[in-house]
Amino acid sequence: MCGIVGYVGTQPVVDILLDGLQQLEYRGYDSSGIAISDNGEIKIYKAEGKLQNLKDTLKSHNDEIQNAQMGIGHIRWATHGAPTLINAHPHTCNCGRLALVHNGIIENFKELKAELEKEGCVFRSQTDTEVVAHLIASIYGKIKNLTEAVRLATLRLEGAYALCVMHKDYKDTLVVTKRNAPLIIGLGEGEHFVASDVPAIIKHTKRAVYLVDNQIATLTPKSIDIINSHGQNIEYKVEILPWEPVALSKMGYKHFMLKEIHEQPDVIRNILVGKLHTTSDPVVLNEVKLTRDTLKNLNRIQIIACGTSLHAAMIGKYIIETFCGISVDVEPSSEYIYRRTVTDEHTLVIGVSQSGETADTLTAIKQSKAKGSHILIITNRPDSAMAREADSLIPVSAGIEVSVAATKSYVAQVMSFYLLAIYMAEIKGSLDSTILKNLKNEMMIIPQKIEQILSHKEEIQRCAKEYANTKDFIYIARGINYPTALEGALKLKEISYINATGYPAGELKHGPIAMLDETMPVLSILMHGSVYEKLLSNSEEAKARNARLIALTNSNDKKLNDLFDYIIKVPEVHEYLSPIIAIIPLQLLAYYIAEFLGKDVDQPRNLAKSVTVE
Ligand code: F6R
Repeated sequence: MCGIVGYVGTQPVVDILLDGLQQLEYRGYDSSGIAISDNGEIKIYKAEGKLQNLKDTLKSHNDEIQNAQMGIGHIRWATHGAPTLINAHPHTCNCGRLALVHNGIIENFKELKAELEKEGCVFRSQTDTEVVAHLIASIYGKIKNLTEAVRLATLRLEGAYALCVMHKDYKDTLVVTKRNAPLIIGLGEGEHFVASDVPAIIKHTKRAVYLVDNQIATLTPKSIDIINSHGQNIEYKVEILPWEPVALSKMGYKHFMLKEIHEQPDVIRNILVGKLHTTSDPVVLNEVKLTRDTLKNLNRIQIIACGTSLHAAMIGKYIIETFCGISVDVEPSSEYIYRRTVTDEHTLVIGVSQSGETADTLTAIKQSKAKGSHILIITNRPDSAMAREADSLIPVSAGIEVSVAATKSYVAQVMSFYLLAIYMAEIKGSLDSTILKNLKNEMMIIPQKIEQILSHKEEIQRCAKEYANTKDFIYIARGINYPTALEGALKLKEISYINATGYPAGELKHGPIAMLDETMPVLSILMHGSVYEKLLSNSEEAKARNARLIALTNSNDKKLNDLFDYIIKVPEVHEYLSPIIAIIPLQLLAYYIAEFLGKDVDQPRNLAKSVTVE
């Protein structure tokens, strides 16, 4: 969603703010703005569209911005009000003496607005955020204490927020607070940083404080004071941030997405370290805090997630049911939270999220936790809000993923499910030992197989050129690769805006087949295994309707040459592990089509990396 940054110290602030916003651009990018304090004056600059537009705007104000050493910045992903200049943050009160930036949604903004209008506040934007600026300013007018005004204002706010506030009366003070939205404070020497996420500050410091919900921090260059919602002082813990700045560089790749696709072999190696030693040793998963007895007797699991993480969850269901014989339900978090769900202390609830901040998933796991379920979180962000709710936490350790379209975090989630399923199967004794050995052996060599695919990527690039001009795309698969079809289609639509849909191939004849003709490409995920022949028949049905057929396959079957117009070959792999191999060419296909069409691959329109609104 939106991203916020703040700085108070002795360096020129504008470059720090702009650089921080650039690192947060993955969170939203329809407008941006900064407010700086210069000799007691608050100056605000905003621009619509990409951050570059703000940078261009600031070029003509160089003289008036270069001395400022305190400021706040914002990159917006519109929720309330169109992405216009007037709705861009920072927002101010009537007199312009207070400015703030906000990430989140204020649910009771209409009531507050009506109340504040009666007091004489004049609203300029359609945002929920402006209400907060007026509210704090109104309270400040009465008590003349900024921290206290922020605290009292937050008692009136419903919804989610991370706020960074500055006031003309405070030349070197920022006040920040949060509830259900991420916010970190970076500690420097004689300076402090504020940001929605680590990338914005990691260049400057590795020491940080993760503000807890409802706490309010007052920052000057030399001090941090944190209070709780009752106004009591709080001891805070300084933590070391998990990333190196190099993770934020494209390292010579044209886009972060391409870099992240290429990182996948190492991501998998990294996940396996310490967990999978040899084919005969049991999987070690100390992160799972359920006792062996509980695991043995477990008979129900619910997995909740959104988007790409939901597809990883669907593969998780397939393998846990197959390996462990435990019934698993998978549901999009946004559906789970708005109905009466049946869960209790005998149910294991698994939340899957790359960002660990997705509002729907966070709410869902809080609901299940309240009902007594053990919460296991699979996330790439062990420092996230979801991780903090976890009873068991499996960090997928994919490293920071900058591109909005998830690639390496997905593969890491799927790999984590394999480890979890094998770990549980070994405790339950539910999987044949020869299969177990084979699987472990194949897991260890899967990184090399992905490298093989990556070294023949020109083949996929050629396919992308051939099919880039299509308006629609269908992906079909069966069994364990049905989620792969969904994920392949999602990747393509996200970054190329082509209308791509994944279907279980058996469903084709129940409706979608009506769409097939010579203009429709159908990509069949034809991996060796139990459903190979069935899928081949479904592909033939599509061919009979003149569809343009592409096979993604590990088969050397000669008859495929006659049936398919294009064949993408991948290495042989056990059926159970085939989703990890099959997704790689689909990520590349989506990437090359989008790149060929000249789309903004890393920052597709309307999307955000971390969806912190329900
Ligand atoms: C797609 C993508 C999204 C996310 C979804 C959930 O490439 O990244 O579909 O998977 O928004 O986000 P997380 O995994 O952070 O909960």
